[in-house]
Amino acid sequence: MGSSTSIRLIEPGDAASVAAHRARDVEAFRPWEPAQPPEFFTPAGQAERIDGLLAAHRAGTVWPGVVLADGRLIGQVTVGGILPQPHLRRASLGYWIACVAQNQGHAGRAVGLAIRWMTDELGLHRVEASTRMANLPSQRVLRRNGFSPYGVARSSIRLDGSWHDGLLWERILSE
Ligand SMILES: CC(C)(COP(=O)(O)OP(=O)(O)OC[C@H]1O[C@@H](n2cnc3c(N)ncnc32)[C@H](O)[C@@H]1OP(=O)(O)O)[C@@H](O)C(=O)NCCC(=O)NCCS
Repeated sequence: MGSSTSIRLIEPGDAASVAAHRARDVEAFRPWEPAQPPEFFTPAGQAERIDGLLAAHRAGTVWPGVVLADGRLIGQVTVGGILPQPHLRRASLGYWIACVAQNQGHAGRAVGLAIRWMTDELGLHRVEASTRMANLPSQRVLRRNGFSPYGVARSSIRLDGSWHDGLLWERILSE
């Protein structure tokens, strides 16, 4: 309510905040996010993971961002699978917002900022995303940011112990 949303590149110092949010929200996220090993929920495990994300960033395949509300870390927004070749220039987008900060418009604004970053800084042309059929909040976030559904990938993601269809979303960044 009234707090500002910003995004920036993830940093090694974000490990403890990310681990704390994901440990607290493990039950709420179970239907929506892939299962993770125990170290994912520790600062040391997140530090290692962030090192990997920053290495992928240096290689040009990922732009790993965090979402801030009034300067405090509340989530992540990740531009992944970047294909920079002139005939492709596309990537896929993923995000989460900690339960304590949900339903205040942060994901919607963070995705808007990521779209601007992908267009202006990464020079991309097209972005894709995938949601579970039942993930209505995530679908609202995408629709609000100009994404359209374009298909269904059957049995494409294993979440909470079973395979689920993925609703596929696209946005042409210049439109
Ligand atoms: C999906 C997620 C990122 C949304 O974050 P958020 O900051 O709460 O999103 P916003 O506040 O910007 O927007 C949420 C929208 O969903 C709507 N919404 C909330 N609960 C809803 C429900 N049960 N049914 C339908 N719509 C719902 C809100 O009204 C809002 O829509 P609006 O813009 O029309 O008002 C967050 O819930 C999350 O991290 N969930 C767990 C992980 C996840 O699902 N990641 C995405 C995987 S594809």
